[in-house]
Amino acid sequence: MIRGVWVVVPAAGRGTRFGSETPKQYLDVAGRPLLAHTLQALFAHPQVSGAVVVVGENDGDWAACDLLVDGKFDGKPVLAAVGGATRAASVLNGVNALPGDVRADDFVLVHDAARPNLGLDDVQKLLDRGREDMVGAILAAPVRDTLKRAGDDGGIDATESRSRLWRAFTPQMFRRLQLTKALEDAGKAGIEVTDEAMAMERLGLRPLLVEGSEDNFKITTPADLARFKFILSQKQDSQRT
Ligand code: CTP
Ligand code: MG
Repeated sequence: MIRGVWVVVPAAGRGTRFGSETPKQYLDVAGRPLLAHTLQALFAHPQVSGAVVVVGENDGDWAACDLLVDGKFDGKPVLAAVGGATRAASVLNGVNALPGDVRADDFVLVHDAARPNLGLDDVQKLLDRGREDMVGAILAAPVRDTLKRAGDDGGIDATESRSRLWRAFTPQMFRRLQLTKALEDAGKAGIEVTDEAMAMERLGLRPLLVEGSEDNFKITTPADLARFKFILSQKQDSQRT
């Protein structure tokens, strides 16, 4: 039997680039907070067993959005943990809050609260490929635009090769204990890792790149939110017809 996986969902950011009063993960989209869409996308996969949502300290928005019924969302358990000053600190707190029956060598997923448009096929692909890798795997996509290196004056200094360059997405999938150690180690070294893979790479480990859909974009600016709302409305239209 395949063991289910737990997910850590960092949702303790302030959304500075988005610029709204309410952090982006709590903004209403089609009648529910963005975070609910993200949990729904994750829990749609039968092998996802539960989630630790990492929220800000005294996060009134989390309390107010009241997503859980008897500690569950869509019938699966959700625990809350308190976030830290950086994404990595938040993720580490989340991993530490995983239930005790998630074993040291069990794979866990980490998925941004701000990526609500994750598809079931991508979760399946990541789980399938990641389980075959000793270290784990991340969803990512090759860079498609031409890359320019800017000079101080805003002029172009050079065109960089994009071959072998990928954009890292989430979910990212690692074993509980190794991920804990990698995040702790980066923290102690004072290095701010911007994703889990980077923490693993620092220890000489080489996570697998699994090509995921571009649809799994991160909501960073209001334009991204408008795109997600449009996608949702199209899905609803196609369900109606
Ligand atoms: N996050 C977190 N704890 C932090 C910082 C970020 O849990 N200290 C979470 C965010 O809530 C988000 C995910 O990490 O779901 C990805 O981060 P990002 O998109 O950068 O969100 P913010 O940090 O909130 O946005 P910004 O960088 O624009 O401030
Ligand atoms: Mg951020």
